[in-house]
Amino acid sequence: MSNNDRNIVLQAEGLCKSFSVVGEKLKVLEEIDLKLKKSSSLSIRGDSGCGKTTLLNLLARLEPADSGLLHWGAKIINAQDKPCSKEANWRAKYIGVVYQSYYLIPELTVLENVMMSVRLSKLSLTNYKERALQLLEEMGVGNKCQQIPTKLSGGERQRVAIARALVNNPVVILADEPTGNLDERTGGEVMDLLLNTCSKEGTSLILVTHNPNYARATEQSSFLKDGRLIYE
Ligand SMILES: Nc1ncnc2c1ncn2[C@@H]1O[C@H](COP(=O)(O)OP(=O)(O)OP(=O)(O)O)[C@@H](O)[C@H]1O
Ligand SMILES: [Mg+2]
Repeated sequence: MSNNDRNIVLQAEGLCKSFSVVGEKLKVLEEIDLKLKKSSSLSIRGDSGCGKTTLLNLLARLEPADSGLLHWGAKIINAQDKPCSKEANWRAKYIGVVYQSYYLIPELTVLENVMMSVRLSKLSLTNYKERALQLLEEMGVGNKCQQIPTKLSGGERQRVAIARALVNNPVVILADEPTGNLDERTGGEVMDLLLNTCSKEGTSLILVTHNPNYARATEQSSFLKDGRLIYE
């Protein structure tokens, strides 16, 4: 299967992944096929331990698969190849990632955390500083730019992490239970910001969530079960 559709920004073909656990082979993903269109959103639900984070890690090339192909737009990647540093640079521009636990650098200010994403992509710090400030403003944490993350609430930290994921104008955002550590109201606000900003900027989104309401807010919904993606 080749990908001639310019409208597809992220595609996986036959992704398989297993882990070796005390000498036993644990099959986590089996022949995952996935297509994400430009400006579209897909949610993935599934029981704890079914492989959702593993799948996002493979899509972002944070770890290699056992087999399968990935398409990042026109770029075709053998998913079993070890991710190289050149690719990390490219990924930083193409894919933004939001994690449940924020992963902000505690020694850096909020603005420096967001700019770290620009730094890693080797984009112009001067050109992107304005965008970083604007995104932080849009996320409602514009007044926290010079704070360090440990002084921020969980909701505020996740707003910063979303700004960091978006700052480079990535084509795709991968979000792994981004509201998993937040209370319902804060989680709802953060989720609205994520969904609305992706929609406004035309950024495609894959959202891993346990919350059926959030899952329904994406254009396409799926379940990961027994290593396979089932589309609803
Ligand atoms: N590096 C690893 N080595 C061995 N086993 C692993 C490794 N990473 C993940 N696993 C196993 O793979 C399975 C899938 O893990 P994964 O973190 O992808 O699940 P998940 O669907 O994201 O779960 P949750 O909803 O709890 O976040 C689990 O059984 C986990 O223990
Ligand atoms: Mg997970």
